[in-house]
Amino acid sequence: MMKNNLTDYKWALVTGASSGIGEEFAYQLSKRGMNLVLVGRDKGRLDEVASRVSQLGVEAVPVAEDLTKGLDEVIRVISERKIDIDLLINSAGIGIYGDFIEKDISKPHEMIEINVKVLTDLAYIFSKKMVERGKGGIINVSSIAGLFPVPYYAVYGATKAYVYSFSLALWAELRDKNVHVLCLAPGKTKTRHSERAGSNVGGKKMEPAEVVRITLKSFERGDPFVLPGPMNKIFSFIGGIFPDKLVVRVIGSFPQYF
Ligand SMILES: NC(=O)c1ccc[n+]([C@@H]2O[C@H](COP(=O)([O-])OP(=O)(O)OC[C@H]3O[C@@H](n4cnc5c(N)ncnc54)[C@H](OP(=O)(O)O)[C@@H]3O)[C@@H](O)[C@H]2O)c1
Repeated sequence: MMKNNLTDYKWALVTGASSGIGEEFAYQLSKRGMNLVLVGRDKGRLDEVASRVSQLGVEAVPVAEDLTKGLDEVIRVISERKIDIDLLINSAGIGIYGDFIEKDISKPHEMIEINVKVLTDLAYIFSKKMVERGKGGIINVSSIAGLFPVPYYAVYGATKAYVYSFSLALWAELRDKNVHVLCLAPGKTKTRHSERAGSNVGGKKMEPAEVVRITLKSFERGDPFVLPGPMNKIFSFIGGIFPDKLVVRVIGSFPQYF
């Protein structure tokens, strides 16, 4: 049964739209007729995505900004154009792989800023407006790494655990106000994420198109949480039944797979 029909939504704000999962959200939402405000840092890539989605007959507004510095500018563009955001996709995020104590502390700070603070600020700004209008949805991108502590991805996993906890709590707070919140926890997905985090290993990865297809179906069904892919589901189930101490030690033997 469809609880949230995406065709009722006119405008989506997609962060991280210049690459990977966010970019794929932009394509699949535009195919459903949604107009898009697209945010990412790489202006060239963002303009390319905007031009591709425009060809499908929807309006696309690219805003090339580093969200840790330019969030106000994004909000300014949206309000100047009098756009009501019906769907917020919080996909912008980074990972950092390696020994916690070996990294300059400015790196985890930067990651907490985008993965946690910016995501929370955007959810705050837009969920308030959605509640006022009595309609809307938010998809926050967590990770399978947010479901268990992951040695060598210690801060990254913690930021994604925050996203998981925050999103489900917000889902419960807003569910009677016709604003639906969904937490997406992808496993390894074929994007530039791992390479940029410094842990590019092989192994099976899901296609972003598949991750987004499953997620949008889940959103429409009204689920509060989605973990795409049977292997990821099995892994998470097994991880949930063994003692934390054992699970963390096992994960610590192959953290690069997160
Ligand atoms: N791929 C995976 O295996 C995987 C697994 C679990 C969870 N995730 C999560 O999925 C989300 C999307 O990642 P992805 O896999 O699509 O990786 P990606 O291809 O590296 O894309 C990351 C996106 O986030 C944007 N971004 C990062 N920092 C930003 C900032 N300060 N301001 C504005 N935009 C910023 C990037 O913009 P620019 O490229 O323009 O800099 C890019 O569009 C992330 O939250 C990630 O943690 C990914």
